[in-house]
Amino acid sequence: MVDLLPPIPSPDRPQRLRQSAAVRRLVRETRLDPASFVLPLFVRGGHGVRDEIASMPGVFQLSPDQAVRQAQAAAEAGVGGVLLFGIPDRKDAQGSAASDDAEAVQQATRAIKDEVPEIAVITDVCLCEYTDHGHCGFIGFDGGLDLDASLPQHVAAAVSHARAGADLVAPSSMIDGVVGAIRQGLDAEGFGHVGIFSYAVKYASAFYGPFRDAADSAPAFGDRRTHQMDPANAREAIREAALDIEQGADLLMVKPAVAYLDVVRQIRDAFPGRPIGAYHVSGEYAMLKAAATRGWLDERRAVLETLTSLRRAGADVLITYYALDAARWLAEA
Ligand code: PBG
Repeated sequence: MVDLLPPIPSPDRPQRLRQSAAVRRLVRETRLDPASFVLPLFVRGGHGVRDEIASMPGVFQLSPDQAVRQAQAAAEAGVGGVLLFGIPDRKDAQGSAASDDAEAVQQATRAIKDEVPEIAVITDVCLCEYTDHGHCGFIGFDGGLDLDASLPQHVAAAVSHARAGADLVAPSSMIDGVVGAIRQGLDAEGFGHVGIFSYAVKYASAFYGPFRDAADSAPAFGDRRTHQMDPANAREAIREAALDIEQGADLLMVKPAVAYLDVVRQIRDAFPGRPIGAYHVSGEYAMLKAAATRGWLDERRAVLETLTSLRRAGADVLITYYALDAARWLAEA
């Protein structure tokens, strides 16, 4: 009989640092801080409105007064910002309600800045929620998209948000030149202090499905592949980010998040001096929610693990529908 001794492990034993929660916490490389979380809110007209979105349980369309309450709860939990999306009462071909100072997003911005000044208010600047055809730009005479022609309306929307008191505007249409146009427009109107959180690297993704229910912004025909990025491209992400920086972007966003962690890392490394955001989008939320509801995943652990991964990949700011839950879970931990 051969006497088999177990191999002697190397003296360098990583497991020593995993033996207690205390030491694990001590040597943890990546930490979550609710101050870097942003909670998206869907805002519509009215008062006392709180309509749950079918494909995003736990997320609501809110009237401005309810948006203030939600922002208040977020601020109390330490969440750093809210990102406002508007659902207008009237839509037209030009998305003219987007630049209406009386619209729901502008009302909610004023009210939140007034009542919850400690939370950053970021507003989404796009026309797809405001156009009757659901596209981010205009439709040209040939029936195709005329995105360039819609730049002035994007600028008008951003200026209207700035007038309402937004800290940052977030152009999300991925139209070439939109960041530069908005920067010029803001500066010309006396809003040189308002920053631009650019959706610099936004992919034409299937994971926006639930959002389009939430914001009622599904395109009536066609898709967004002619202006949002091809999911297969990473080098092009660097090009997009560089263009937005040239045009005056203050923060860069990568979107979606989980399927694009390699892109987050590459943007982080290519632009070390810039804050980077990662948007954990509606479909990513819906997947976790659906599995958790069926008892297939431990929601709290899966969500915190996901958010930690985004930070580990290099994101500074995390935009997530889980912002408030995650902030509360962290406080309990
Ligand atoms: C466009 C916009 C979209 C999202 C944020 N801004 C939808 C789109 O490009 O079709 C998606 C966000 C999400 O899925 O959570 N205004």
